[in-house]
Amino acid sequence: MFGSQIPVLQAPIGGSAVPELVASVANAGAIGGLALTGWSESDASAVIAKTRALTSGLFFVNFLLAFEPQCLGSVLDSDVPIVTFSFGDAGQLIPVIKAAGKVCGVQVGNLLGARRAALQGADFLICQGIEAGGRVQSTQPLESLLKSVVNEDLGVPVVATGGIASGAAIRDAMAMGASGVMMGTRFLATKESRAHELYKDRIVRSSAADTAMTLCFMDGWLNSTHRVLRNQTLEDWEAAGCPPPGSRPGEGDVLVKMDDGEPVARYHMFQPLAGYEGRVEELPMYCGTGCTDIHDVPSAGELVQRLWREARIHQPKPSSA
Ligand SMILES: Cc1cc2nc3c(=O)[nH]c(=O)nc-3n(C[C@H](O)[C@H](O)[C@H](O)COP(=O)(O)O)c2cc1C
Repeated sequence: MFGSQIPVLQAPIGGSAVPELVASVANAGAIGGLALTGWSESDASAVIAKTRALTSGLFFVNFLLAFEPQCLGSVLDSDVPIVTFSFGDAGQLIPVIKAAGKVCGVQVGNLLGARRAALQGADFLICQGIEAGGRVQSTQPLESLLKSVVNEDLGVPVVATGGIASGAAIRDAMAMGASGVMMGTRFLATKESRAHELYKDRIVRSSAADTAMTLCFMDGWLNSTHRVLRNQTLEDWEAAGCPPPGSRPGEGDVLVKMDDGEPVARYHMFQPLAGYEGRVEELPMYCGTGCTDIHDVPSAGELVQRLWREARIHQPKPSSA
């Protein structure tokens, strides 16, 4: 895809997607992804420059359109060739990205969203299934969504994402018509990712049944469904009947201090990153169902090569359609 050797995109996994991770993926012949939601123009320019200094390979930047894309100007001025949007109507922004000579991808969670994004001029679609880790905009399992979007023949490449964490899953998605795949949780558990060590360890030890779709970690972003690993915060909130802000158990507890000393309270949306100190396992540990297939914490470059080797020898499973 887009001239990459390997049609694998590393998802924009928030603060875990540091330049070292993005560059390691890009240097292995796949496509890295920076998550720039909430970044200032100067910080965005600096992180793009830092990533570019580590790789001449392909990487993209992403914006969650539930928030203002504050640093879009810096991205437009940069040499980053691909921009993706998720969680919102990208109709106004797609022409802006394309006018800057860049490729624009849009993440969708249902067929209507796919039709809309294609009509609005998206260059490619990212179909997210409900198996995904992190915020889930999808309402459908990946296989049924992917098949319906591919069958619609919207004239643009389709990338599959959500629950993919093995060579076999890559091959199956491509056999269903995906031009490439995007993986988030699999890249959280890599050496270069900035996810906290305890978070990486939980991903490696977990399987799909340990994940839950919930609204629990809502502070910072209300009413947006997410898939996380079950932890004490979630168990206590569910046991209390999933109450709204103001009456949640342990509300206001400071769970960790970030590396700059800023406190993070229970129910906040921030994932646990390296350098955070305190009760990191009570923060949201976003995780897709593909954790069942994750058993190690390799370097991202080695992982890309391994997954692609496995994808090429795997026999696709017979279609259930
Ligand atoms: C920790 C984490 C942070 C994420 N942050 C973003 C983000 O900033 N923007 C976005 O479009 N998607 C984000 N996602 C969702 C991914 O783009 C993708 O849909 C998801 O990771 C795919 O599922 P998987 O984790 O099972 O591979 C995030 C996912 C995770 C796990």
